[in-house]
Amino acid sequence: MISNDQKYLAEVLNTVVHGDCINIMNSLPEKSAQLIFADPPFNLDKKYRSYRDNLPFDQYMKWTEEWIDAAIRILRDDGTLLLYNIPKLLTYTTPILNERAEFRHWIAWNSGGKPLGKTLQPAHYGILFYTKTKKSKFFDVRAPHKTCRKCKTYLTDYGGKEHQRHPFGYQISDVWDDIHRVRHASKRIDNHPCQLPVHLIERAILMTTDPGDLVVDPFCGGGSGAVAARQMGRDYIGAETDEYYQEVSQAKLMAAQPTIIGNAYVSVHLNKVVSVRDCDIEGGIRWKRRAS
Ligand SMILES: C[S@@+](CC[C@H](N)C(=O)[O-])C[C@H]1O[C@@H](n2cnc3c(N)ncnc32)[C@H](O)[C@@H]1O
Repeated sequence: MISNDQKYLAEVLNTVVHGDCINIMNSLPEKSAQLIFADPPFNLDKKYRSYRDNLPFDQYMKWTEEWIDAAIRILRDDGTLLLYNIPKLLTYTTPILNERAEFRHWIAWNSGGKPLGKTLQPAHYGILFYTKTKKSKFFDVRAPHKTCRKCKTYLTDYGGKEHQRHPFGYQISDVWDDIHRVRHASKRIDNHPCQLPVHLIERAILMTTDPGDLVVDPFCGGGSGAVAARQMGRDYIGAETDEYYQEVSQAKLMAAQPTIIGNAYVSVHLNKVVSVRDCDIEGGIRWKRRAS
């Protein structure tokens, strides 16, 4: 007999669900998701359509604890939780996560914005990388070598070991500075105030999942996480409390197509490969720098 949570999983698989992520995650089977990519509101009084982004701090952290519990329950034993936020809030979140999961990395994303601060200019966001257990799925990811825009020479000095330079690109580290933030334009259909670049989430997906694995985005917003999962050939479930954002995400998903070069899923932006799994290159796929 099929259990209620299995029935619910089948019902919502590969959709963005309108509703509260805690209820939605609590309705899914235990240990069903390979990756949870969470981009919760930052409690900075951002102007969302319906969500009020100004909870008293204690309430915000209590809520954070609640959704993290719901997320950890549905993670597979070799699954990963990536939590994107501003550094200050992440310092309050790590104690919660340290009690429930295994710390792996703190990824710093320099989003290329022009920071305006009164003291040290805030130039990066953090992505906490936790796994449910010590035994997790992980894939090395490569990004194209950085070259001079004008003369096309390589910017990294290999100190006489140029022959060791990988033919495609460098192995990414925990500092990501090659992906620019989304420029927000009020005239766009989604009109969501803080969308992440799809190719940022695609990199996270390539790093922690296989094709066909389930990716859950509990705060789906304009749909970037769900679109990234679809383009990378993964199953997905998004949750979003705002009906308009949920509809916009569904519309974007209708237009999104898997991005495959050779026989591997690769992340492409503006017709250029941004991220590819090392094992997919070594596997002998016929990859090219540009998508056709
Ligand atoms: C920071 S935005 C996410 C943006 C998204 N990553 C993107 O790239 O478009 C947070 C979103 O979470 C939604 N939200 C707030 N509380 C929620 C909840 N309890 N369950 C589901 N969604 C929620 C808000 O409406 C908002 O759209």
